[in-house]
Amino acid sequence: MEWLRYHIKPEREELPLDWGKIFGRESEMRVEIGFGNGEFLLHQARKMPEVNFIGFELSITSFVKAQKKFYRYGVENVRLVMIDGRFGLRELFPNDSVSHVYINFPCPWSKKKHEGRRITHGDFVETLAAVLKSDGVFELMTDNRQYSQEVYDKILSSGLFRVFPVMVDKRREVQTRYEKKWLSMGRHTYLIRAEKVRSATVERIAWGGEDVHQKIDFLDSGKLKLLVGKVFKSGKKVFVVKEVFSSSNENTHLLKIVSSDGGFEQHYNILVEKHRDFWIVKLDNTCQPYRTPSVKWSVREISKKISLT
Ligand SMILES: C[S@@+](CC[C@H](N)C(=O)[O-])C[C@H]1O[C@@H](n2cnc3c(N)ncnc32)[C@H](O)[C@@H]1O
Repeated sequence: MEWLRYHIKPEREELPLDWGKIFGRESEMRVEIGFGNGEFLLHQARKMPEVNFIGFELSITSFVKAQKKFYRYGVENVRLVMIDGRFGLRELFPNDSVSHVYINFPCPWSKKKHEGRRITHGDFVETLAAVLKSDGVFELMTDNRQYSQEVYDKILSSGLFRVFPVMVDKRREVQTRYEKKWLSMGRHTYLIRAEKVRSATVERIAWGGEDVHQKIDFLDSGKLKLLVGKVFKSGKKVFVVKEVFSSSNENTHLLKIVSSDGGFEQHYNILVEKHRDFWIVKLDNTCQPYRTPSVKWSVREISKKISLT
């Protein structure tokens, strides 16, 4: 399982990450979001061994395929994070730290009701302008002309980038899996290239995410069971209690939670544990979420709800 070494899990690390420590060297950083089976990342990493490459991907299947590929080629300068790239780019890097960000053939999510799923949605352009170095480059290739126009307009209107005219059917040294697929079907490709000219500020919601422990004197286990299915909402924060499991002596309870911060979803467990004459409510360490506002709020809110007053 040596090929697993590319996968890093920064949920418990202090943010932004210390990339020099992770790679064992300080070097230029380039990021690819949605690397799929890893063709582009592999090609770039082999061509520029002096650069540190970071890839974000959500699909487990792609993640495994790409890792095996990097291992086969003995690549040393790549690290991968299984995370929504929009969150990863904003939360894992300090300002002015990345030289290039690439996206190849993102799903355009053409329907209006799905626009929130587009990689370039929300504060993405501001995030780019925060984490890219001055003159840093963003490149996005797509087979969807309308989407390319929308991204072009969005970047241009931000005033944060110098945007080059969209390059139609530009061939690069490597073709990704989706690029080959669309080309074999006779489709055109559109390459957007933009260079940062001004910085922007973005709010980092997971930085300084201290641990959340709550102490309560008495537990109302009746109230605990009633939490199943309950949805809690406040501004951009949402969480739902999916299930509650209890030990036979009722001294330990585990609540399965799904939370969201403006669409960034996480699944984790909250542990309610009896100590000598009090109870502790905390995040269970089996699956660790990023300490976002909704995660911290869920621990605090649940302690309040289950406390016997
Ligand atoms: C159409 S595929 C393109 C894959 C590859 N770039 C290529 O050109 O062959 C889009 C990829 O982006 C990934 N993806 C979609 N949304 C993402 C997100 N928010 N963060 C990271 N990866 C994402 C998907 O899992 C999928 O592998």
